Order: sequence, then structure tokens, then C-alpha cells
Amino acid sequence: MTAKRRILVTSALPYANGSIHMGHLVEYIQTDIWVRFQKMRGNECWYVCADDTHGTPVMLKAQSLGLQPEEMIARMREEHLADFSAFHIAFDNYYSTHSEENREFCYGIYKALRSNGHIATRTISQLFDPEKQMFLPDRFVKGECPKCGATDQYGDSCDVCGATYAPTELKNPKSAVSGATPVLKESEHYFFKLPDFEAFLKHWTRNGHVHASIANKLDEWFEAGLSEWDISRDAPYFGFEIPDAPGKYFYVWLDAPVGYMASFKNLCAQKDLAFDDFWKADSTAEVYHFIGKDIVYFHTLFWPAMLKGSGYRTPTSVYAHGFLTVNGTKMSKSKGTFVTARTYLDHLNPEWLRYYFAAKLGAGVDDIDLNLEDFVNRVNSDLVGKVVNIASRCAGFIHKQFGGLLSSHNAEPALLKELQDAADGLAKAYEDREYGKAMRDIMALADKVNEYIAAKAPWTLAKNPDTAKEAHDVCTVGLNAFRLLALYLKPVLPKLAEQAEHFLNIDSLLWMDAQSLMLTHKINEFQPMMVRVEGAKVAAMIEASKENLQPTAAPAAAENASGSGTTTASALITHEPFKPVIGIDDFDRIDLRIARIDNAEHVEGAEKLLKLTLNVGAETRTVFAGIKSAYDPASLIGKHTVMVANLAPRKMKFGMSEGMVLAAGPGGKDLWILEPHTGAQPGMRVK
Ligand code: MSP
Ligand code: ZN
Repeated sequence: MTAKRRILVTSALPYANGSIHMGHLVEYIQTDIWVRFQKMRGNECWYVCADDTHGTPVMLKAQSLGLQPEEMIARMREEHLADFSAFHIAFDNYYSTHSEENREFCYGIYKALRSNGHIATRTISQLFDPEKQMFLPDRFVKGECPKCGATDQYGDSCDVCGATYAPTELKNPKSAVSGATPVLKESEHYFFKLPDFEAFLKHWTRNGHVHASIANKLDEWFEAGLSEWDISRDAPYFGFEIPDAPGKYFYVWLDAPVGYMASFKNLCAQKDLAFDDFWKADSTAEVYHFIGKDIVYFHTLFWPAMLKGSGYRTPTSVYAHGFLTVNGTKMSKSKGTFVTARTYLDHLNPEWLRYYFAAKLGAGVDDIDLNLEDFVNRVNSDLVGKVVNIASRCAGFIHKQFGGLLSSHNAEPALLKELQDAADGLAKAYEDREYGKAMRDIMALADKVNEYIAAKAPWTLAKNPDTAKEAHDVCTVGLNAFRLLALYLKPVLPKLAEQAEHFLNIDSLLWMDAQSLMLTHKINEFQPMMVRVEGAKVAAMIEASKENLQPTAAPAAAENASGSGTTTASALITHEPFKPVIGIDDFDRIDLRIARIDNAEHVEGAEKLLKLTLNVGAETRTVFAGIKSAYDPASLIGKHTVMVANLAPRKMKFGMSEGMVLAAGPGGKDLWILEPHTGAQPGMRVK
């Protein structure tokens, strides 16, 4: 037995201005599998993450929703957390970078860097939006490409010719925030002197802290030379103000990785752990950051340098993965392949995706492709056809003929030994993040077990009293093999493993349990564990993900898109099968509120929509509702109705719709909104 390791693991902190999508899930699933594996091994392993809440995009998004940033990030964190837990991503702590712990660590690190001489200041000039009175990040300036003249290009690079440039080089630049023409303006900025750390970083990156594929990238960066890093942004900015620098804020990328420490510190308080054991300079604990290849620079240069320069330990390793493509191309909103975590969950089982990603993941930075046809085939053939099938083929006889009791005899020691002996190799594959190899090896074992069962044909043996005992033995071997396969798959398929544990009537499986077998053991009744993926459900998910990108040809159809701000019962009078059953918890996720209709008006060019201004107590929402055929807008003003208050805002042809009012009826004139009794107050929750 090796000594118990102490391990801290992080995934990159998702931005608080958008929903979790399938691309993100590559990372959280990859990390979660690794953490679950470490825990099964008996190591002390903590998995922390948080929402990345600061910066201009978050600030502007909150403004566009009419929310305070604090309120928006609180809602977003809830949404992210719900998505992650539905995918069985088991963080030990999920925190926020907008926290006191984070502020304190940022201040401490910054002050240490400053007193060690690693901070510089100088005046730079940047594009400024005179209307919004704010400096514009590169992505918030649009104009004509200086190289090819393409219009509507961002301030950092051209989508058409691929040129990269400074935002000041754009022709006819416009602020994407206000549309105003930006002006150049000077201001003092704070810089982190990254070049001070060149020797340290070269040494660090060449000593096994990053995968070879990243080390090569780093060599290129070293050759290009390290530059000082601009870590300040001027007000207005949502973030932490820099100590002794009024009106200057830390750039979001400074406080984001510090958020790893803050989340862990917050966990320490809950679990009575010693923060220093993991983070002081001479710590013997291990710290791993799982990230995507797009943020390697931040994690392998800035971050270790910041830690080194302020007296903390540096990461044991930074593990970067590639990007997700769907059917071989970038995720696309118009093709419906930009699938959010929630839309996936509305149609498919999260463990299918966990398995598929695991089967595709290796230790390197290669992109991974989700081929939807392959997804269906692989999940059905491997999980349902090979693994679960073993249990369902063997369980019946044990119950029908042997009272649910396994045989006392191991009739195929060589096969079971082969499965048990696979434990070390599989552990190495998990440890090395070679999940694809682990899945292939596990399925090869499953193939052998299925061949064995097919050759012995217990269903034939069981029919004859003379050979019934042999059927008992064969099924006992089969179920022991199933237990070992479930154990090896447990980091990837925690729910399936839990179902297996219940069915087999055993304790929660640990890695070392691979060395034992179940003989003369009572099992529970077999319950179906996993159904096959239906291609139609995958198609429905893609359909539901297609965004109506401002269609111009068919306004009526566009209004009818799922983003339309009304849900009418008329839409349900079809022969469509019912959607999968939801629990009360799912229903509880819908926040129904009383809304007072403060204004209702026609929308120019819209055949079905009325534009409603809804007062929900704390705030006002604009909703486009398809009730024009039934209501004169003037008659609605002042009425109370019921709205779905937590529906994600949807961009429609006529503007942003920020919710949905409930209406029912066959359609046309016969359509009614709910009109709660007097006494209803805007913002009241409807039960
Ligand atoms: N907020 C920063 C990370 C700060 S860490 C101190 C960020 N957020 S993100 O929401 O854009 O991405 C979070 C993680 O998901 C990143 O590691 C990113 O690489 C990963 N992915 C985002 N889109 C992805 C794909 N399409 N495919 C695979 N991973 C992707 O970056
Ligand atoms: Zn161009």
C-alpha cells in the first residue's frame, strides 16, 4: 500500500455571464472522473471550483438584464450548480470569485508582489466610449478590418481574413456598447512584471509540471519573449478595487485563479482543514488545475509566477484538454450543435455523455469530437449491450431458481482473475488521464465475459435439473464480473455503479474491492439500469438547440419559435408523445410570479406578438407574448397576470424577451391569460 496522498483539484471557473454548455462539460466531466477515481483509491482529494464573476462582459450583461451584477451572479451560480450536479459533477465546494476570501487573497498576493518589486505602473492610451464613459475591451470595439476591409469585425482579429491587430487599427471603429465612435484616452495602468520570472518559469515548465504538448507551446512563448501583464482596469468595472489605487480595479484574470484558493479556503472552514498544508511554499500536498487549451497562458505563466512572487507553492501540474467539436465542426447555434447542459438534460441521460467523453479523452490537448451517430452507437453497444446486459442475463436465474443467493463456487477462476488483475493497469490509465484507453480495456473485458456467458448458455443449462447447478455457477461468475466492471467504470458512471451496488447488495465500491469476490452472497432483485439512447431524442435535442437567428422571411414562424414569450395550451393539441416525466423538483425550478402589466403595445411588423412591460415587484421585464389575436393591448394595462420569471432571456426578432406569461386556449380569439384575484401583488410567488 502506498501512503495516502493529499490532493487538491480544480477545474477552470466558468464565467458568470453564460450557461454551461457541452464544451464546458468536457472539462468538468474529465476532472470529476479523476477526482472520483482518487477518492475510490482512498486518497484525500478535494475538488473545488467557483463562478468567475468579474469583468466587463459580466457587468454589461447584468446591465442589459436590468440587474445588479451581484444579483445576476447569484442567480447564475445557482444555475451552474444545478447543471453540474445533474451531470454528477461532485464538487467539494463551489464558490464565487466575488467573495471576501478572494478579496483578501488578491490583496495579499498583490501587496506581496508589490513589495517584492514585481509591480510597475505606466500610462497607456486606449479606446474610450465617450457616451458610456468607459474604456472598451478589444471585443467591445467593432469596425472594418485594416487588412481586408471586412465590416463588423472585432477589435482584436478578423473573422474573414484571420488578421490580428490592435483595436486602434480598425477603420470606422464603433463601440459595441453604445454605437458611439470611440476616442483615444490616456490612463495609468498597473503591470505585473512577468519577465522577472523567466528563469523560474523555464525551469518549472521543463520539470514535468505540464504535458509535453504544452511544454512545446511554452517554448514558443519563451522564444517570443515574455511581456509585462496589464492587471488594472479603470472604473466602471465589476471587480475588486486595487489597494491604494482608487478607481482602478484588478483585471478579472488576476482575481480568477486566486478564486481557486478562495474556494479552498472556504472549504477549509467547513471541513476544518488547514489551508497552509496545501498552499504554503514547501507544501507536500499535490495541487492540480484542469483547464482547456485556450487558457494555458494564464495557468502556466501568469499564475505560477504570481504564486512564486508572493511566496506560495506552485501547482504540481496543469492539465489541459482540447476543445469539443460536434460532428466534426465547431459548435454552432444555427446548426443546433451549441447544446446547453440544460437542453441536453431535457432529452438525454447525463451518464451517456460522461461515458462518451471518457471514451474519447486522453492526456493531451487534441480536440475531441462528439459525433452524434457514434454517440448513439457506442453508448448502446458498450453500456447497454455489453455491461448492463451481463447483469440482466444472469440475474433472473439466480432469483427464479436459487432464491437470490450466489453460488459458493468460483467456476471460472481464470476469467475472474483476469478481470481482477486488470485493476492496476486501469488505475494507471485513470491516473494518467488516459480514459479512452481505460474504457477500451474495460470493454474488452466485458466482451470476454459476454463470450463466456454465450458459450455456457445458462438459459439452456437452467432448463435441465441435471445442469441447473452449472447455470448457478455461470451466473455467479457473470455477476462477479459485472461487479468488477461496475467498479472500474464507477469514476465515469457513478449512478450506474450505485444502481449496481444496490442490486448486488454491497457497500459502496472502492478500488481495492477489486481484489474480493462475492460467493454465497444474497443479491437484490434486478431493476433495469440504463435504457438505450434513441436517435430521435438526440434529434429532438438538436432541434431544441437551434436558435432562430433573426429570420426575415417568415415572421409568423419566427414568432412561433420556442422563444416566443407565451406558452399556450393550443400548442399542446397535437399528436406528439408526452415529454419524459418530470419530478416535482423539476417543476419547482419554474419560478412563477405575479406580474402587473404596466404597459402593453403592438409591435410593428409582428402578426401575433404584443410587447408587455411587466412589473414583478423588484424589477420590470419586457416580454413578447403571442396573444395579439385575443387581446387589445389597452385592455391589458393595469391587469395582474402570472409569468415565468426565471426563463432565460431570449433574443427575438423584435428584441429581448425576458420571461413568459402563461396563457391557455385553442388559439385565435380563444386565448386567455391568467388573471389572479385582486390582492395579488407584483412579485408574489405563485404556488
Ligand atoms: N473564466 C475563465 C476561466 C478562469 S479559471 C481561473 C474561462 N471560463 S469559460 O467559461 O470560458 O471556460 C471554462 C472552461 O471550459 C475553460 O477551461 C475552457 O477551456 C473550457 N471550455 C469552454 N468551451 C469549451 C469547448 N468548446 N470545449 C472544451 N472546453 C471548453 O475560460
Ligand atoms: Zn480581414
